[in-house]
Amino acid sequence: MSKPVVISGAGLWKPDHVITNAELVAAYNAYADRFNAENEAAIAAGDAALMEHSSEGFIEKASGIKQRYAYVKDGILDVNRMRPRIPHRDEDELSHQAEIALHAARAAMSAARKTPADIDMVIVSCAYTERSYPAIAIEVQHALGIQGFAFDMLVACSAATFALQRAHDAIAAGSARCVMVVNPELTSPQVNYRDRDGHFIFGDVSTAVVLESAQTCTAVHAYEILGTQALTSYSNNIRSNFGYLAYAEDVDPFCAANLFHQEGRRVFKEVCPMAAEHLKSQVEAVGLEVDDVKRWWLHQANLSMNLLISKRLLGRDASPEEAPIVLDEYANTASAGSIIAFCLHHEDLAEGDLGVICSFGAGYSIGSLVVRKRAAA
Ligand SMILES: CC(C)(COP(=O)(O)OP(=O)(O)OC[C@H]1O[C@@H](n2cnc3c(N)ncnc32)[C@H](O)[C@@H]1OP(=O)(O)O)[C@@H](O)C(=O)NCCC(=O)NCCS
Repeated sequence: MSKPVVISGAGLWKPDHVITNAELVAAYNAYADRFNAENEAAIAAGDAALMEHSSEGFIEKASGIKQRYAYVKDGILDVNRMRPRIPHRDEDELSHQAEIALHAARAAMSAARKTPADIDMVIVSCAYTERSYPAIAIEVQHALGIQGFAFDMLVACSAATFALQRAHDAIAAGSARCVMVVNPELTSPQVNYRDRDGHFIFGDVSTAVVLESAQTCTAVHAYEILGTQALTSYSNNIRSNFGYLAYAEDVDPFCAANLFHQEGRRVFKEVCPMAAEHLKSQVEAVGLEVDDVKRWWLHQANLSMNLLISKRLLGRDASPEEAPIVLDEYANTASAGSIIAFCLHHEDLAEGDLGVICSFGAGYSIGSLVVRKRAAA
């Protein structure tokens, strides 16, 4: 790679509100009981399906998730609502996503020792944006007083890694000096809390990463990007169909098909080998072996998935230091998972240590960056 580009700072913001598996299951089961009572005759006649109970034991065993954070907890556990009650904001107020983006962006700037004057490109990249335009990224750019340009990107679970690749390429090509990539993953509004298969999966969080040319970097913890790779392969197994056509199609914009749903077992089976193969080829493409890599900051959707992928890669179990897990606390936070792992587990690496940031998920999409820790500035 031509011009060295570094990750010079990362920032994490999490909401104040926690929802435990126990709370979520209690709300779901109360909803299911009420549905079954109200539809007793239809269920007996075979015209409606009995709603089975969810269970804490299943959720933790099947996913490794113990809790999740919620931007707004109010409403999610209310059987009469089963979705967050997020206050509407007027057009002259800061949007919800810009607000949480700013928390993470400021933390990343501080870690990178940068001010808004140093940055000239902002990418907001996540699984959903709360509106089509103006871009949330431009609102963030404006709120921070950054010159240059900004845009939004949607790549579901790989939004963060794909945006990091865009940022890397822009700096390497000279079209940007210093880029802020932000992932305001406000996932809770698209969760179907009435769906036993998926009500436990997601949490809200916001992450941000600053990238710049190695020449301008003054950060204490900085990582030179040795290589990036992005891969997509079409799949219907993870979908969210909500979109602007709902108005014209005369379908209920909030029906179950328009919220997140997936064929979890299929995703598991298909994505694990793809991700392991991708990671191996990505590491080898920059002239390294998987055993050279000290840390794997992997996407955080399912504990067994991460254990399986690292076992396929290394030929043995990865230690928690090698492949840190954060999904027990954060749940699946769409594209932010690997960045949370990076934020919480990178400062202990020594100069020259190698690491890989990798996401995998809806699309399917897989994105990865191989990085090497630099000497402290
Ligand atoms: C979603 C996921 C945790 C489900 O785990 P799983 O082991 O595949 O579970 P299954 O859906 O096969 O269900 C197993 C059983 O548990 C039951 N079950 C499902 N949800 C349940 C719940 N909340 N509580 C209790 N039981 C439940 C199912 O009905 C099924 O019962 P059966 O065996 O009698 O048919 C897992 O498939 C997964 O994480 N896949 C990867 C998903 C992913 O990474 N997606 C990316 C999202 S962006």
